[in-house]
Amino acid sequence: MDRWKGRVALVTGASVGIGAAIVKELVRYGMKVVGCARDLEKMQKLAAECQSEGHSGVLVPFKCDLNSEEEILFMFSAIKAQHKGVDVCINNAGLAHPESLLGGKTSGWKNMLDVNVLALSICTREAYQSMKERNVDDGHIININSMSGHRVVHSTDVHFYSATKFAVTALTEGVRQELREANTHIRATCISPGVVKTEFAPRLYSQNTDKAAGAYTKFKPLEAIDVANAVTYVLGAPPHVQIGDIQMRPVEQVL
Ligand SMILES: NC(=O)c1ccc[n+]([C@@H]2O[C@H](COP(=O)([O-])OP(=O)(O)OC[C@H]3O[C@@H](n4cnc5c(N)ncnc54)[C@H](OP(=O)(O)O)[C@@H]3O)[C@@H](O)[C@H]2O)c1
Repeated sequence: MDRWKGRVALVTGASVGIGAAIVKELVRYGMKVVGCARDLEKMQKLAAECQSEGHSGVLVPFKCDLNSEEEILFMFSAIKAQHKGVDVCINNAGLAHPESLLGGKTSGWKNMLDVNVLALSICTREAYQSMKERNVDDGHIININSMSGHRVVHSTDVHFYSATKFAVTALTEGVRQELREANTHIRATCISPGVVKTEFAPRLYSQNTDKAAGAYTKFKPLEAIDVANAVTYVLGAPPHVQIGDIQMRPVEQVL
């Protein structure tokens, strides 16, 4: 990870959960991390925590609602002005709403598409353009996908979510191919976890306390740090090694 010291990483969804754990690891390795989310206060607390641990890296919190392309583009122009550009883009922000395919609300589907698919694609494009204009040839795009991007589980609550994550699988491989065509050494990777204990399930089941309470008790889930460790593994691999996808489940998870 030494070569990433002082370099700039954008981590979306940095306020809690997997994103916050990724931020901590990258700061520990000396990276300058721009973290974005809607909850600025939580990111400010995280930044103070990172600082108090005395590592050479830093978290710069940036309030951004990824539903809005305008806000995303504004964030990239601010990063350009303040930090020159993005060397590593970690598309982590994501969410699910329990809106079934046969009876769910369009607004919930749209929110999932906007954040999980469109914002990820806009950030990827902008990060690549930022690398290209600065002749950065060793950058990295990392998408936090899901096992739900690889198989469809028998739960109407996550069928649409699963479709957005299948899109992430296709987008990661598509980006890898376009990077090859552009003759760069920039890498594209996705990480596909099974159940991880975060705010994901409580948010998904905010209207169903039983489901929320049961989400992480059936077996020992992954912790956010397990996924963050996978991120530093793919980033830390030698420059000629491109890891396409890491699929990781809790040992006791069946599907
Ligand atoms: N937890 C799991 O079991 C699991 C399993 C597989 C994959 N994943 C994936 O892992 C990624 C991270 O999820 P998590 O488990 O860490 O969930 P989480 O604890 O709910 O965190 C989600 C993050 O996304 C951010 N976010 C959501 N909507 C946003 C918006 N409109 N604009 C900006 N930021 C937004 C949230 O920040 P604010 O609310 O502050 O905006 C938060 O920081 C997601 O892509 C998820 O699909 C999770």
